[in-house]
Amino acid sequence: MEKPVRLQKFLAHAGVASRRKCEKIIESRRVQVDGRTVSAMGIKITPGKERVMVDGKEITAAEEHVYILLYKPKGYVTTVADPQGRPIVTSFLQNVKERVFPVGRLDLDTEGALLLTNDGELTQAILHPSNEVFKTYEVLVKGLPKSPDLHSLETGVMVDDKKTSPAKVLFKEKIQQNSLIQITIHEGRKRQVKKMFQAIGHPVLSLKRLAYGNLGLGNLTPGKYRFLTKNDINLIFSNKSLYKQKNS
Ligand code: URA
Repeated sequence: MEKPVRLQKFLAHAGVASRRKCEKIIESRRVQVDGRTVSAMGIKITPGKERVMVDGKEITAAEEHVYILLYKPKGYVTTVADPQGRPIVTSFLQNVKERVFPVGRLDLDTEGALLLTNDGELTQAILHPSNEVFKTYEVLVKGLPKSPDLHSLETGVMVDDKKTSPAKVLFKEKIQQNSLIQITIHEGRKRQVKKMFQAIGHPVLSLKRLAYGNLGLGNLTPGKYRFLTKNDINLIFSNKSLYKQKNS
């Protein structure tokens, strides 16, 4: 018999969602244990003994964890189901029987590295601000930002009335009247990169995420994915050398 575990931990481990999100799911009375709705936090269950349902669907103990890095193309929504019927990121996954969900989101018009997993604990670790996981983006912006503007992105600019945390910015090249810039941030506010460049007066024309930590896209092309190893996962958390090379 397995040991009792907290309900939200069991749900996260079973791949329902991140632990935080599972707490919200419990709070919103969507979970039943042996037929009774549970909304209080802290309840423990014994996997395999009690019957746990979310939205009327039985949740079984942890599936094998899978970790996938997808090159999300532009025009796909970062979700596992879209009520508006737009193309979704999971449509690329073939022969993946586990129920994986995206770690964070990329805008509809953003492309690049998107991690998908059924490991709720890892999702939480990557998204939790205290872990400061770096994300690196390649950004095409309108015009030619001046050095002081780029420097202000590094020290922090005001976005939604709050200064952004220190970032690393690298000017790559001038493309006609526009600029290709690499930026590494560890916050994950909504539309953050676009808002940061908007704040210095250089709107984003296109945006691509190159890496989580030191885990880069490698040879992936839009719509392709690869399964990750434990070593790959470790790269996500290795913040020592910031990702600088193009597509490596
Ligand atoms: N920042 C943005 O503005 N958009 C994204 O999709 C990701 C980061």
